[in-house]
Amino acid sequence: MTRIRSALRNLPVHIVLLGMCAIWLIPALGLLITSIRPFQDVNETGWWTVLSPPTGAVEYSQSCAGCHGADGRTVPSANLSDPQFVSAFRRSFTLLAALKAERKDQPGTPHMGDTPVPDEQTTAKIATYLRRLSGIDAHPTFTLNNYVDALVGYRGTNSYVADCAAGTQSNDLHCDVSDLGNPRGMALAFVNSLIVAIPSTVLPILFAAFAAYALAWLHFPGRQLLFAILVALQIIPLQMTLIPISRLYAQLDMNGTFLGVWLFHTGFGLPYAIYLTRNFLGGLPNELFEAIYLDGASHWTAFWRLAIPLAVPALASLAIFQFLWIWNDLLVALVFLGGQHPVMTYQISTMVSSKGSGWHLLTAAAFISMALPMLVFFGLQRYFVRGLLAGSVKG
Ligand code: HEC
Repeated sequence: MTRIRSALRNLPVHIVLLGMCAIWLIPALGLLITSIRPFQDVNETGWWTVLSPPTGAVEYSQSCAGCHGADGRTVPSANLSDPQFVSAFRRSFTLLAALKAERKDQPGTPHMGDTPVPDEQTTAKIATYLRRLSGIDAHPTFTLNNYVDALVGYRGTNSYVADCAAGTQSNDLHCDVSDLGNPRGMALAFVNSLIVAIPSTVLPILFAAFAAYALAWLHFPGRQLLFAILVALQIIPLQMTLIPISRLYAQLDMNGTFLGVWLFHTGFGLPYAIYLTRNFLGGLPNELFEAIYLDGASHWTAFWRLAIPLAVPALASLAIFQFLWIWNDLLVALVFLGGQHPVMTYQISTMVSSKGSGWHLLTAAAFISMALPMLVFFGLQRYFVRGLLAGSVKG
């Protein structure tokens, strides 16, 4: 009885949790499915129709299959599985004219006999299906071509794989491994993103650990004031510094260099990193440090042997946040790197056309850029949760 009552009490919580999962999972699923559908399908139907029959299949089986057969071969003089035959009826109005015409073998009889002739829209769908049935537009339900296109930055009307096979690819691509270095592709952008994100994560956290140790365990005058200033620095919005820093970088000839972005991210990561790490280190028990100092250890030893190992969960969760923020950052990358060293966010922003097409590329590119954060998150999840808890218990 009590168990049922407590289950009922938890029911709203479970419903809310399920709802939140659905809100997150359904769009993610849509993104994933769209990214593995051929672009012809993406342009025609939504991702949720992926398991329903292809466009026009139902209409074909209702109006035409009775005479032409499910495979289109039943009438030998009108073999609908022959690409050459069907290509004469590619356009829906030629097909509609043929459907309204009299039968060639029996003049006077309408083509479709007693079956009603479909309307224009239905005919268009049937025409689409005939192109698929005959192999003119043959394509599988799922494909990885979008990922290849996104990686090499291919924006032809057909897929890179198909165009390379036909030898009709555009001239800046060679259909070999060297295409992965294409400046418009996600492969190069992935490498650029790593080059930006790794030092921009490691540097601030390293410096923050030093500073936090000093602020927590070195007793020098003015350290509270220094800490207060650091906390206050977090208020400054990043956007305010874009102009002064880009002018400074222009004088130093550092615009468009990785060094410039590393320094920028380090500068803006430091205040919060110091704040969090100092609070964590300051919350560690006094006795531990007194004991190690009594043993004659220097601050250097105390830092590396005691403070850092204890602070690993806090530093790891900090690293996750910093890494994710830099990985997803577009503003700084756009201003200081631009197209010179395109990172993934920049590359994705160039993939949607102004008319909103190119979804198949965009979704694949989005998944490529999501892959690493997901790995980092799930790989470091243990630390992540522990670090969060540690931060909340010792403020
Ligand atoms: C009552 C039976 C029947 C139905 C229903 C029917 N067809 Fe046909 N169709 C035929 C026959 C028989 C021929 C071959 C004789 C001819 O060409 O007139 C033919 C010929 C054709 C041709 C070639 C016409 C030409 O001008 O060469 C096309 C294309 C075609 N059918 C498409 C369709 C499609 C699409 C549908 C469904 C919307 C359909 N047919 C429904 C019996 C049928």
